[in-house]
Amino acid sequence: MRIENKVYRTIWFENNIVKIIDQTKLPHKFIIKDLKTVKDAINSIKTMEVRGAPLIGATAAYGLVLSIIEKNDLLFLKSSSEDLIASRPTAINLKWAVDRMMTKLSGVNEKDILELALDEAKAIVEEDVNFCKNIGLNGLKIIEEIYNKKKDTVNILTHCNAGWLATIDWGTATSPIYHAHQKGIKVHVWVDETRPRNQGANLTSYELNEEGIPNTVITDNAGGLLMQRGEVDMCIVGTDRTLSNGDVCNKIGTYLKALSAKDNNIPFYVALPSSTIDWRIQDHKQIPIEERNSEELTHVEGIDENNEIKKVRIYPKKSKSLNLAFDVTPAKLISGLITEKGICEASEKGLKGLFK
Ligand code: MRU
Repeated sequence: MRIENKVYRTIWFENNIVKIIDQTKLPHKFIIKDLKTVKDAINSIKTMEVRGAPLIGATAAYGLVLSIIEKNDLLFLKSSSEDLIASRPTAINLKWAVDRMMTKLSGVNEKDILELALDEAKAIVEEDVNFCKNIGLNGLKIIEEIYNKKKDTVNILTHCNAGWLATIDWGTATSPIYHAHQKGIKVHVWVDETRPRNQGANLTSYELNEEGIPNTVITDNAGGLLMQRGEVDMCIVGTDRTLSNGDVCNKIGTYLKALSAKDNNIPFYVALPSSTIDWRIQDHKQIPIEERNSEELTHVEGIDENNEIKKVRIYPKKSKSLNLAFDVTPAKLISGLITEKGICEASEKGLKGLFK
């Protein structure tokens, strides 16, 4: 998608270096950063220079390529893979991508391993682009249906950033929106600010602006009122891990939006590539919920009048805080899962029907 009218992807490989857009500086500064070692890749995931489930997976895949370039040694590759998986616990794409790479590379000789690793990382990236594009084409049908009935702008609420910046291109939750806009359907997006890191305000609103899609940032607590007022036609969110029973783990606050949508009879969809499905666990209590540094709550970052990014404290120094990064929305609150293969019920039957 575009930034200042130039087409970008969120990650690419050039002259043995992985290039990323540093998302911790957006929307104020657009900085392309080089990752030269596997440690750089791990750091970029930990510090959220790259974030969003599919992009974390792609970064981990390229991280293993960097590990081989650094030291073509099986023990080093294994410890790199473990460190990558541990860098963020909740999004399953990270483990999925690392496992896929390691399976592909097992038993391969030293001479061929780099080429094979690079091919596989590129395959993961291209697959994600295709999956996200197809999620968009499938989700477009829902937006089109609402538009045909309403004959007016479709108002869509989204939470966090499940846009192209969270993937490689298109995004998951935003892909149907981009496709609708390109087809001439009038859409407007309510963007949840998404405290504490403000991925909605900083990233979703930014990328929608760059694509010319009307959007309004709202506080995380405003969605309920807008739904009661009839100003939300549908919700679409992303997911970091979808269980085979249809329960969805996503950015903290998603669950409250789903409850509110249910109470107001508003369709609540989750968009996901199949790489986000965790087929192994059934009970959401088994999902490791990331607990992040409380400084993300106690401090906020912004740009001052001298164009410098500054961080300031907003809580009393003595206050305790708890920074839980994700929650789980039960399948019963979800109208449907929009995947690359089609739309299905949020249930084991629905998912298995699409993914045999
Ligand atoms: O903590 P983040 O910014 O990595 O959280 C991102 C989300 O919660 C997204 O909704 C999710 O990863 C889906 S991205 C297509």
